[in-house]
Amino acid sequence: MKVIEIEGARKLKGSIRVSGAKNATVALIPAAILTDEEATICNVPEITDTEALCDILKLLKVQVNRSTESVIINPSEMVNTEITEPFSKKLRASYYFMGALLGKYKKAVMYFPGGCSIGARPIDLHLKGFEALGAKVTSEKNKYIVEAEELKGANIYLDIASVGATINIMLAAVRAKGTTIIDNAAKEPEIVNVATFLNNMGAKISGAGTSTIKIEGVDYLHKCFHEVIPDRIEAGTYIIIGALCGEELQIDNVIPEHIDSLLLKLKEMGVELDIGMDYVKVKKQEHTLQAVNIKTAVYPGFPTDLQQPITVLLTQASGKSKVTETIWENRFMHIPYLNKLGSDIDVKNQTATIMGPTELKGEEVVATDLRAGAAMVAAGLVAEGKTTITNAEHILRGYEGIIEKLRLVGAKISLKEIG
Ligand code: UD1
Repeated sequence: MKVIEIEGARKLKGSIRVSGAKNATVALIPAAILTDEEATICNVPEITDTEALCDILKLLKVQVNRSTESVIINPSEMVNTEITEPFSKKLRASYYFMGALLGKYKKAVMYFPGGCSIGARPIDLHLKGFEALGAKVTSEKNKYIVEAEELKGANIYLDIASVGATINIMLAAVRAKGTTIIDNAAKEPEIVNVATFLNNMGAKISGAGTSTIKIEGVDYLHKCFHEVIPDRIEAGTYIIIGALCGEELQIDNVIPEHIDSLLLKLKEMGVELDIGMDYVKVKKQEHTLQAVNIKTAVYPGFPTDLQQPITVLLTQASGKSKVTETIWENRFMHIPYLNKLGSDIDVKNQTATIMGPTELKGEEVVATDLRAGAAMVAAGLVAEGKTTITNAEHILRGYEGIIEKLRLVGAKISLKEIG
C-alpha cells in the first residue's frame, strides 16, 4: 500500500504547473484507435489511469510509444480482442473502449469498468445510446457484448447529461452511417477536447460544449496531432490549497474560464485572487474567510470533483457552510476523516453542514477515493503536526507528480510503500 506523510502548517510559496486533464486523456487514448494511422497526443499526464489505458492498448496489439508528456498510438496492427476484467476494472474510463471498438469494428467485448466507489455508477445511458445506433447489447454477470451489423445515425436524448455517455456515444457514432444528434449532452470542456481530437482526424462533429451535439458519420479517420487541455480539477485543487496555506502560490497552465464556478465561490468566501490569462495567484488571507453554500452541478456548475477539496477550505471559514452533492450518492466519505482531524461537519442525506473555523491536527486518515484523497492532502497541509494518508494509490490515479509539485513550493510531504 502507498502512504503519503505530511508535516503540515507550513506556508507554501512558488508556482505549480497544472498537467494535462485526466478526464480528457482517458477518453482521448481509447479514441485514438478509431483511426488506422498514428495519433500523437501531447500534454498527457503521467498518472496510473493513463498507464492502465496504455496497458489495454497493448492487450489489443496497438503500438504505444510513451515519452515525457506525449504518447504516440499506432493501431495499424491492432486486434479486437476481449478486454478482460483485470484490465477493465482498473479504472472507470475503460468503458470508452466500448464506444471506440464498437465504432471501429462494430463489436466490443469487455467487462464492467472499475473506478472510485462514489456511487452506483451505472452505464445504462451508454448502452441505450449504442442500441439507438443499431447495436445489440448482451450481458452476462459483468461481461458485456455490444455488436452491430451496421451502425446508423440516430437522435438520442440523454435522461441525465452524463459525461461518459456523451463521449462514448460520440465515439460510436463518428464512423456510423448518417447523422447522430445527442440531446441533453454534457458540456464539460473535456468533451470539447475529445470532439476537437476526432475532428482533427476527419470526423464531423459540431456543437460540442453545448447541450446538442451533431455527429455526421464519416468512413475514415486519419492521423493527427493533438494537445490535452489543462486539468481544471487539478488546477482547482491547488488553488484551494493556495487559499489554505499559500504565502504566495501561482498556479500555471490554467484556463480560468473552465473553473469560473470555483473562482466565484472563492471570491464569495473572501479569497483574493489574481486571475491572469493562464494563471491564478492565490494566498491564505489575513482575515477569516466567510462560510458559503455550495451545490454541485453539471458543467458549468460547481464540479462534484472539487466538492471534497473545497470542504477542507470551508472548515477554515467563519460560520455555517452547506455543501450539497447532487451528482454522486456516496461522495462524503472524506468527512469522517476530516472530523478525525478536528473539523465539525455533520452529513444528512446529500448535504454536509460545516461549522467553522476549526483547527485541524494531524492524524492517520484514509484516501477512500481520488478526490477524497486530494481533500486529505489539502487537510494535511493545513493541519498542525503529522498527517498520514493510507490508500494513497487513489491519489496517484489522477494527480501527476503531486509529491514533487508540492515539495517544490515548500511542503514537507513524502510517499512511502508499506506492507
Ligand atoms: C465523469 C468524470 C468524473 C466526474 C463526473 C461528473 C471521467 C472519467 N470521470 O464521470 O470525474 O465526477 O463525470 O462530472 O470523466 N449516470 C447514469 N447512467 C449512466 C451514466 C451516468 O445514471 O449510464 C449517472 C451517474 O450515476 C451520475 C451522473 O449520471 O449520477 C453523472 O455521471 P457521469 O457524468 O456519467 O460521470 P462519469 O462520466 O462516470
